[in-house]
Amino acid sequence: MSEAIRINKTTAPKPKPKDAELGFGQIFTDHMFLADFQEEKGWYDPRVEPYGPIALDPAAAVLHYAQSIFDGLKAFRGVDGKVRLFRPQKHVERMQSSARRLCIPPLDPAFALQSITTLVGIDRDWVPRMMGTSLYIRPTIIASEAFLGVRPAKSYLYFLILSPVGAYYPEGMAPVKILVVDKFVRAVDGGMGGAKTAGNYAASLYASEEAKHAGFTQVLWLDGVHRKYIDEVGTMNIMVKIGDEIVTPPLTGTILPGVTRDSALHLMRRWGLRVSERQISIDEVTEAHQRGRLEEVWGTGTAAVISPVGELSYQGQRMIINGGKIGPLTQRLYDAIVGIQYGQSPDPEGWTVEV
Ligand code: COI
Repeated sequence: MSEAIRINKTTAPKPKPKDAELGFGQIFTDHMFLADFQEEKGWYDPRVEPYGPIALDPAAAVLHYAQSIFDGLKAFRGVDGKVRLFRPQKHVERMQSSARRLCIPPLDPAFALQSITTLVGIDRDWVPRMMGTSLYIRPTIIASEAFLGVRPAKSYLYFLILSPVGAYYPEGMAPVKILVVDKFVRAVDGGMGGAKTAGNYAASLYASEEAKHAGFTQVLWLDGVHRKYIDEVGTMNIMVKIGDEIVTPPLTGTILPGVTRDSALHLMRRWGLRVSERQISIDEVTEAHQRGRLEEVWGTGTAAVISPVGELSYQGQRMIINGGKIGPLTQRLYDAIVGIQYGQSPDPEGWTVEV
């Protein structure tokens, strides 16, 4: 899109929350970024407006058939006061592949990145200061055409909103209890599991509510075909350490290609650790636990960064991992990633982009 970005700033800035009181995704900044798409015009009218409700026709395709994609990334205020985005290009690339899977016209990557830096630049005072807090960035594309036939829409809305956040789980970086579900699945081979699209999250709610009622924080999904291979944990990628091997399921289309997953794999390979992207069955995990070789389990995601798993429960059998405490590798990964995000450690791969 070559059009200049129109900027309409708010005349009524909102009071900012206290860093220590931030939860996840409840508070939004003063502005949002928008752009429209029509078949004849392509993407047009990029603009920044005061944050507020958007008007949609009740027949808008997204409301009926969930033709939508989103992504989630963060901006951090470093120990040096600089504001940095973490791997924004990787998130923009993922948005493009999610868009293709949902038949949504992708945004030009340079434009998508520009929309992020423009909006974060305008609302930079909203980037919180306290360690562990950040500005969560949520780019979204929805099908806006008013049409009830089932086919890709001819018009779309792109919007980008920002939310100052604290820890994703109220308990912070603490080991969580996870229920392994075999009654429900999140994704199937050939389905949409590899795309960041609304429907995947709607599909996850029922099992996740059941798990919460049973006293667990989240679920561990098994593959949709055999209900045997581990897939994702809650909304995160999963990694397990068995002896000296770290295993995570491969990107075969059913799991989300996580940016934190990629960052963790990269770091562990650089540290000379034995990392395998391979299928791993829940039976192998259970057996490793019985033999005392299941050393650590953790989830990786943008929202929580690294989330240690302290307990897995499968078919009534409880597996306590590392005595229910954060394992040394889990902690090392968390510290390494957070160190780069807050500008405390060098960034040899150039993962951060200053705003
Ligand atoms: C993540 O960043 O880990 C997520 O996918 C969670 C998000 C959907 C709130």
